[in-house]
Amino acid sequence: MPGDNVVLVGFMGAGKSLCGRMLARRLGRCFVETDEMIAAREGRPIPEIFATDGEERFRALEREAVALLRLKSGDVIATGGGLPCRDGMMDALRDLGTVVWLRGDLAELYERARRSGDRPMLAGRGVDEVEALYRRREPYYRQAHVHVDTTGLGPDQVVARVLAALREAHVARV
Ligand code: S3P
Repeated sequence: MPGDNVVLVGFMGAGKSLCGRMLARRLGRCFVETDEMIAAREGRPIPEIFATDGEERFRALEREAVALLRLKSGDVIATGGGLPCRDGMMDALRDLGTVVWLRGDLAELYERARRSGDRPMLAGRGVDEVEALYRRREPYYRQAHVHVDTTGLGPDQVVARVLAALREAHVARV
């Protein structure tokens, strides 16, 4: 039987971390973030892992993090934007609980992602390349149980929509 976590997926800039933290507070649940797990286990920040060991090493660490998440129950989990987009990863996430895709307008996501944080997957990529990356990833995100459109919304409104969607799906004890 699938777990009872809530798992947020979506492209960079979708608001997975901020909204995930707020959602966890609203639900009285713990919040976990795969990027934080990886950085803590490695003792170095994500950009350094990319720079020193490359993307494939980071993806392997993401796979390990998801295996560890099988120990969790009832948590809100925010994933890195590329985590669901490798073989078997979306199935693994769906086993952890209810997977919610924070989808949105690509221009908006891109603007937000560029403004905040150091994101190795954006470095050296033009808008067209980022759009191509997004298009490649969309089929994976689409496999989420619940899709929430965040276009034009602030974090409070996004959280409200996620809560409503979870209630509607009768999947969260909220
Ligand atoms: C990545 C997204 C980042 C982080 C890493 C790789 C990606 O997380 O996991 O830099 O491949 O899209 P956010 O989605 O929180 O930016």
